[in-house]
Amino acid sequence: MADDHDNRPRRRRIVLCMGATCNMSDRAEPFYDCLHAAFGDPGPAFMAHGPVSWEVANCLDMCDDGPNLTLYPGGHDVHALTVERLQEIIEQIKAELAHES
Ligand code: FES
Repeated sequence: MADDHDNRPRRRRIVLCMGATCNMSDRAEPFYDCLHAAFGDPGPAFMAHGPVSWEVANCLDMCDDGPNLTLYPGGHDVHALTVERLQEIIEQIKAELAHES
């Protein structure tokens, strides 16, 4: 974990829910495509080659607020996700990483 004396970029982990409710009528598919285009194949954090890893969940236990995504560090939940909001998140992460490096 980064601290005040550690200049390495903080690792990010993104968990996209593609469970039955969040992906109703394939509405989460565009989110998958956005994350894949930005960060490559999904996979567990320990297998990540870069500072960002992302993975798919079957349910994040907040179905009524979906589509959902959770961002780490911090465990910040994003509800009612849209492609536009996801693009903002991706751009923000990229900007933070550029600033930290
Ligand atoms: S299906 Fe996404 S939170 Fe349950």
